[in-house]
Amino acid sequence: MTAKLIDGKKIAASVRQQVAAGVEARRLKGLRVPGLAVVLVGKDPASQVYVRNKRNACEKAGILSLSHDLPADTSQAALEALIDQLNENPTIDGILVQLPLPPHLDADPILLRIRPDKDVDGFHPYNLGRLVQRQPELRPCTPAGIIALLDSVDTPYRGQHAVIVGASNIVGRPMSMELLLRGATITVTHRFTPDLAHFVRDADIVIAAVGKPGLVKGEWIKPGATVIDVGINRMPDGTLNGDVEFEVARERAAYITPVPGGVGPMTIAMLLQNTLYAANEFHPG
Ligand code: GUN
Repeated sequence: MTAKLIDGKKIAASVRQQVAAGVEARRLKGLRVPGLAVVLVGKDPASQVYVRNKRNACEKAGILSLSHDLPADTSQAALEALIDQLNENPTIDGILVQLPLPPHLDADPILLRIRPDKDVDGFHPYNLGRLVQRQPELRPCTPAGIIALLDSVDTPYRGQHAVIVGASNIVGRPMSMELLLRGATITVTHRFTPDLAHFVRDADIVIAAVGKPGLVKGEWIKPGATVIDVGINRMPDGTLNGDVEFEVARERAAYITPVPGGVGPMTIAMLLQNTLYAANEFHPG
């Protein structure tokens, strides 16, 4: 069997179009357009690319994008003061602080300070708690985007064993809750899991999110499984590879996401969707 590719670019484009239509609907009703504040501290090159893409995507969807590029030596107090100001700004529906922050800054109190109704990354403990308790509101973007990809191929969830490789706050942990919510049986593996192959071989759904190229071997994939590759690893020759050994895995899986063009485009699309959701649900005026 050769797997069908799940086209994240196409699915993301359709989400973005729906968001643009939602923004236009607000305008026609005389409501202000949603606003997203994107905060970048320092000049990490990868973060600069992500932030530029987020800002461009906002503009294309008709969302107001407010940029705050702060110097690398910004203090914790100054960053917290900016968050307070954005929390109070009535034109702003969503606040995103690009991670990772420079090492002298502590991300946890920053994420706690973002008002939960403006937490379009879904990283605040309030929003994660809602997801854990089966009442999601603002959901972390990458796991929500993966659910949209899995829905696009009519994944049945119930009765399926989903194995998540990587237990990060941004992907692995919230992903496990999204899949549990839909009735899958979940295994979360991580760096202390002794026999990764054993778990992956049993998986109907594999979610690889560790950032190690080719960590998940193609021969481990159960025939007919669905494989979602969150890894974006820059190789010495400049190409991008995922966490899954793609060529071998695609001969066994039923569905697989390519890298690039799989999960990557979904994260930004879900961020725009969350921003529109925050505007409509929490700040309708
Ligand atoms: N860094 C890597 N992924 C993300 C994300 O989804 N949101 C933010 N804010 N920073 C990130």
